[in-house]
Amino acid sequence: MTRQITLRRPDDWHLHLRDGDALRSVIAATARQFARAIVMPNIRPPVTTLAAALAYRERILAALAAARAAGELDDTGAAFEPLMTLYLTDRTTAQDIREASASGQVHGVKLYPAGATTHSDAGVTDIARTYPALQAMQDCGLPLLVHGEVTDPAIDLFDREKVFIDRVMEPLRRDFPALKVVFEHITTQDAAQYVAQAPGPTAATITAHHLLYNRNALFLGGVRPHWYCLPVLKRETHRQALLQAATSGSPRFFLGTDSAPHARHLKEIACGCAGCYTAPHALELYATAFEQADALDRLAGFASEFGPAFYGLPPNQGTVTLVREPWAIPESLPFAGDSIVPLAGGETLEWRLRD
Ligand code: DOR
Ligand code: ZN
Repeated sequence: MTRQITLRRPDDWHLHLRDGDALRSVIAATARQFARAIVMPNIRPPVTTLAAALAYRERILAALAAARAAGELDDTGAAFEPLMTLYLTDRTTAQDIREASASGQVHGVKLYPAGATTHSDAGVTDIARTYPALQAMQDCGLPLLVHGEVTDPAIDLFDREKVFIDRVMEPLRRDFPALKVVFEHITTQDAAQYVAQAPGPTAATITAHHLLYNRNALFLGGVRPHWYCLPVLKRETHRQALLQAATSGSPRFFLGTDSAPHARHLKEIACGCAGCYTAPHALELYATAFEQADALDRLAGFASEFGPAFYGLPPNQGTVTLVREPWAIPESLPFAGDSIVPLAGGETLEWRLRD
């Protein structure tokens, strides 16, 4: 039985860090585990310009410095690098894209179909309106990061990713054959199959929760709001397909936690927010999933190699080590004057990241 795994220091290619006190509460969790992260732009107001991205980056660096000063991080953790993104809107211009790309600080542009998820109301209403921006992104080599669900209320919630492939992804790939596209947090066999064989530079992130759980987790003995995220967990056949894709060794699939913190009281209410908080135990959750597939030897590629290669960034220096050592996930953590429930809080994990 494998007792220890050492990996090149990994990155998180899809992360929500929030802002203000919430940012301060969660930053150390990610910086302890990952060298870099692609930071989602769906804060309020959304990060739609280079100036907003640079200002947000400064707030993240200030929160990191505060965590370091409070003894929450060592020097390695404090060297965490946020990789900024822009929020694509109907009004994003080609000039906005060229400026963002030239800054060297913006590493992707996020497409949220308007209304698809948390803080997506400023998102794209008609993809045709974004074609000048997409053309500029293709020219600059700036990746498009896609929340791949249609918002059509006539489409069943569980089918929205599959329908998005036909209605949006395929035309997009045809019209922009050289555009780098990341299909974010895929949740279905359909998306895994699509990404494995899609033309052009196409990749996908996969969360730990979609590798570990199917939709039964949402209703185990009652409604379980801390397992509710978007795209929602799917049936077991889809989880199996995602696990197969993640452990296949294909460089098109890499780690993106989609850790999406919401205060406990905003999850445990009549209309709770979508998002699973996995930053504190992300690597341990992924190791658990890869071990289930008897593929721990494939974790390094997925977590540390394929993401930088797709984004055109150097792989990290240094390593992290996971050891087999059971520990209990905290049931609750402090969060912006409130509390937050990490995914599977109170349960035991067999793997632990060594300090
Ligand atoms: O579950 C989710 N939460 N999915 C998203 O796409 C957004 C995220 C959030 O920001 O809370
Ligand atoms: Zn997300």
